[in-house]
Parts: sequence; C-alpha cells; structure tokens
Amino acid sequence: MPADAVNLRDFESHAQAKLPEAHWAYLHGSAGDGDTASANQQAWQDLRLWPRVLNDLRIAASLNTACTVAGRAMAHPLFLAPVAYQQLAHPDGETATGLAAAAQGAGMVLSSQSSTPMEAVASIFAAEADAGPLWFQLYWQGDLARSLALVQRAQACGFQAVVLTVDAPVHGVRDAERRAGFVLPEGIRAVNLPATAPVPQSLAGLLAQAVRWDDVAELQAACAGLGLPLWLKGVLHPADAARAAALGVAGIIVSNHGGRTLDTAVSTAWALPQVRAAVPSDWPILVDGGIRRGTDVFKALALGADAVLIGRPQVHALACDGALGVARMIRLLRDEFAACLALCGCATVADIHSGHWVARDRHNHSP
Ligand code: FNR
Ligand code: LAC
Repeated sequence: MPADAVNLRDFESHAQAKLPEAHWAYLHGSAGDGDTASANQQAWQDLRLWPRVLNDLRIAASLNTACTVAGRAMAHPLFLAPVAYQQLAHPDGETATGLAAAAQGAGMVLSSQSSTPMEAVASIFAAEADAGPLWFQLYWQGDLARSLALVQRAQACGFQAVVLTVDAPVHGVRDAERRAGFVLPEGIRAVNLPATAPVPQSLAGLLAQAVRWDDVAELQAACAGLGLPLWLKGVLHPADAARAAALGVAGIIVSNHGGRTLDTAVSTAWALPQVRAAVPSDWPILVDGGIRRGTDVFKALALGADAVLIGRPQVHALACDGALGVARMIRLLRDEFAACLALCGCATVADIHSGHWVARDRHNHSP
C-alpha cells in the first residue's frame, strides 16, 4: 500500500512502478492517442459545482451516501467496472477486488474475461451480509445459445443481473499494447469462457459474430424468462438509449469503455445529460469513464446517473496492495463523495439535482 495514497490518482504511479511494462500497457492503456480517455476526466473537471449553504444536513453520517439503484438499496453509488484479466495486476486478481467490493458495499460487475472462476467471486459476495449488487458482464459469444450458457452459469452461482457490453464489436487500436508487445502470460486466461469457443481472426469474421439489436431483443426475452435484468454497457447516443428503453432492458451504462475502443468518441459526462433527457426519468442509468474524485461522482448524479463505475483506479489499487488497496480506494472515493454532498448543501443523495452544476465555458462567461 502506498502509505501516501490519499486519493485515487496516488495509486496510479505506484502501480506503474510495480507492474511489468507490457502489463501496464494493457491495464492502463487506451485506444489511439488516448484522447477520449483524457477527455473523460477533463469533462468532469469542466463542470463547476454550484453549492447551496445553510441547509439542515443533520443525518447519521454513514447514511448520507445511501441510495437506491434499480430498486436495490446501496450504502453508496459506487460499482467496480468490469475489468478483464485482473491477475495481470495482482496474483489475487478478481478474488481481491471481489473481497474489497463486498466488504465496502460496492457493486461489482465481473468481466466475461475474468481470470478467476465466476463461482469464486460469487461465493465471496454470498458470504458478506452487506455486499452490494453482483452483476455479470457478458461479451456476446457469437450466438444466443453460447451467450445464454454463460448467463445461466452466472445466475446459478448468484449473479443478479447481466451487463451486455455493446461498444466493442472489434478490438480498439491499442498502440501502447502493440509497442510493448503485450500478450497474455502463461497461466492467465479467461477461465470462464470455453477454451474451445472459436475466436474469429479476421475483421469480417468478428463483424459477422458481432451482437446486433435483434440479438439484444432475443437475449432480453431469454433473461426476462430467467428473471434476470439485462443492462447494456457502452451506450453514448440518446437514440440508442431510447431504443434500449423501448426494448425493455433494465438500464444502460453510459460508457466509452474508458477510451479503450473508439478514440475521439465523445466523453461520457458530455453524453450523459442528453441520454438522460431521451429516456423515462426513472429509468436507471449508470455511467463510467474518468471518475476519479468524489466531486466527479456527485456531478455524475447531478447529470442524471443513478450510480457510477470505476475502471482503472481499481486496477491501480489492486496492483499496489491487493484487496486492501481496492478497499481503501473505494473508501477514499466514498468519503470524498460524502464531503462533497455536505459542501454542496445536500443531506442525502436524493437532494442532488441539476441546479448543482454549471458548465465551465458558461461559467467563464457572464450569464
Ligand atoms: C476494461 N473495460 C472493460 N469493459 C467491459 O465491458 N468488459 C471488460 O472485460 C473490460 N475490460 C477492461 C480491462 C481494462 C484493463 C480496463 C482499464 C477497462 C472497461 C471498463 O469496464 C470501464 O468502462 C472503463 O475502464 C471506465 O473508465 P475508467 O474508470 O477506467 O476511466
Ligand atoms: C478491454 C476489453 C477486454 O478493454 O474489454 O481490454
């Protein structure tokens, strides 16, 4: 544990120093020039908070971050985003992030490409009375039958929802990975995927297998039959969000994959309010990308999200100190969020609203 880590960014340099260069290139890298990855962070900073004062903030301190996400009560609105191959960051991999998330009451979305058996992570969550939601991230397996086999296995061991990632029909252009010659080391692989599943090598092959709206409709029907909510992750356009809502999916995650797929794609803070405006006001929306501060979490909720997901900082904290590092990372972010709530004059998460922020460009000019 970096003794001097007082915020999420402090874990980053320690992690980089600890990890082999090629692992860092995969775990921290982004697509192309990294433009969207940095724009994600910048976009949160470009929103200025507009605090209110003198409100009655008396409430039990641990309750002010409490919230409800898709009908489920949570201690705070933080989820760990799906991140593949976590054993690259630390030998304990997803076991460590699972322990940290469960102990801290954070939600967790386990990647399809987890390097740890999904049953092991599910049993950690089952053992923790105050654990948050545990969801399974699905990469479409080329057809409904193969995809559903994974979903059924996840449900059988205790996952409570499915998150279909829709923004990566092909791999992003990853310069850092190519320069560093990244390949998965011996012993680390996507252990939950059948080793025999054919992975198309050509672009045409990948595109032929890529998930489409009609597949989503079929998957949605199948998940509904199993009583499992289906979410879509990687939606940025209001028209796609409206189509997802009309299909009856449980909610969406506004995401650009942390800038790891399409570089120069719009930032999530920019897309979020437009997406929010295009769907029913109580329809659940989560967001990720560049969230590093409690103020970012507050802004995400002020723009209409119900909760946020954290990607790279979990990898940094995991590399630094396994489960303890990730638990500390979640706690730091939650405490920052609690302070921000109070400083903006909000006694509870429900008090956050769109009047609490103003865009920096508007802020820099007279109204
Ligand atoms: C990811 N992400 C990701 N998303 C997904 O749906 N399935 C996956 O397997 C992965 N794998 C993955 C690996 C690594 C190393 C990273 C950094 C990211 C994307 C992730 O869920 C999330 O959308 C972004 O990481 C959020 O942005 P920040 O918080 O990293 O800026
Ligand atoms: C990535 C894939 C696994 O971002 O989603 O590396």
